[in-house]
Amino acid sequence: MLRDGAAEMIPLARPVIGAPEEEAVLEVLRSRQLSLGPRLGQFERDFAAFLGAPLASAVSSGTAGLHLALRAVGVGKGEEVITSPFSFVASANSVIYQGARPVFADIDPVTLNLDPQAAAAAVTPRTTALLPVHIFGYPADMQTFEALATQHQLAIVEDACEALGARHEDLKQVGARGNPAVFGFYANKQLTTGEGGMITLADPALKERIDSERNQGRAPDMDWLDHDRLGFNYRLDELSCALGIAQLRRLGEMLAGRARVAGWYREALAGVDRLTLPCEDRGEERRGWFVFVVQLPHGVDRDETIRALAARGIQSKPYLPAIHLMSFYRERFGHREGEFPVCEDIAARSLALPFFPDMSEGQVGRVAEELTSAC
Ligand SMILES: Cc1ncc(COP(=O)(O)O)c(C=O)c1O
Repeated sequence: MLRDGAAEMIPLARPVIGAPEEEAVLEVLRSRQLSLGPRLGQFERDFAAFLGAPLASAVSSGTAGLHLALRAVGVGKGEEVITSPFSFVASANSVIYQGARPVFADIDPVTLNLDPQAAAAAVTPRTTALLPVHIFGYPADMQTFEALATQHQLAIVEDACEALGARHEDLKQVGARGNPAVFGFYANKQLTTGEGGMITLADPALKERIDSERNQGRAPDMDWLDHDRLGFNYRLDELSCALGIAQLRRLGEMLAGRARVAGWYREALAGVDRLTLPCEDRGEERRGWFVFVVQLPHGVDRDETIRALAARGIQSKPYLPAIHLMSFYRERFGHREGEFPVCEDIAARSLALPFFPDMSEGQVGRVAEELTSAC
C-alpha cells in the first residue's frame, strides 16, 4: 500500500508499446486473417536475421518452445536431462512433459548459470541431453557444454527465454549456435508479443518437425484435418506475430535502454556494503539485459525489504526460487535443502528490482535510495 503523498508507483516491469505496435495489430484485425497468415513467416525470418540464426519457428510461449525443442532432439521417457535448478520452473517442467527426468547440477556463483563442471559430474548412462539456461540474460558457457555434449553424445537445447540480445565469447549471438534455442516473449521480456516464443535452430528437418507439431501434427503439404503424428496447438497467432515484428524493429533501442538503466543502477548501488550486483560482462561476453537482480547481504530480511520498498511505491520480488525446493519437485523427486548449496544461497537472497527500458534516472535513484536504507 502506498502511503499518502508518496511518489508515483514504480512497477517491476513495463513493456514499450507505441503507435507502430498499435498500427501493426490493427492491420491484422482489418485483414481478417488472424492465424496462419503471412506474418508468421515474416516474424520468423526477421527474428532469425536479427540474431544471425539459420532458421526460426514461432510458437505460443517459451514453455511450448522448450517442449517442442526437447521432442525434436529426441528426449523421451526414462531419460535424464541435465539442467539448472536456478531458473524459471518451465525449463525443468518441459523435461517432465517428455517423461524424462530433470537432473539438476549446481550453478556458478558469479554468472548464476549452470556450472559446467557440476553438469559433467551429473552425467549418467541415462543422460541424453543438456538444457543450459542463460539466466538473467547472461550467456551460459556453451563452448564447454558443447564439448561435454560431444564427449557423451548428448543433445543440447538452450533456454534463451531471458537472453535476447546476449552474446557469447566467440561473438556469436545467444541463439545463433545451431543448437535449438528457445526465446520467450511474455510481457516482461526484452521483446514481447503478450504471450509467445521462438525456437532458433540450424537443422531444416528439426524445423519441419517443430512446425508440424506446433500445428497438431499436420505436415506442410497435407490437407487440413489430416495429421500424420501427434501434435499440439502451440501456434502463434497473427496479432502476436505483427506485434513481434514491430517490436523487433525497435529492439536495438530497447536493449540499449535496458543497458543504460543497468548502468545507472550499478553507479547508484556501488557503495552499498555487501550487496551483490549482477556480474559484469567477462571478455567478449555480453549480457542481454532482462532483469536487474541483486543479492541482499546475508542477514538482511528479504521479506521486510520488499515490504519497506512497497510502502514507498516500489515493486520488487524474490527472483528466482530454487526449482528443486518447490513443493512439486520435493514430492515428486525427493529433493531436500543442501543439495545445491550455491543455488540455494543465491535464491534465498535474490531480489528483482524495477527494470524496464524507459525507466528514468530519477526512478533508478529513488529505488537505490530506498534499497540502501532498507539494507
Ligand atoms: C528461463 C525461462 N525459461 C522459460 C520461460 C517460459 O517462458 P513462457 O512464460 O513464455 O512460457 C521463462 C519465462 O518466464 C523463463 O524466464
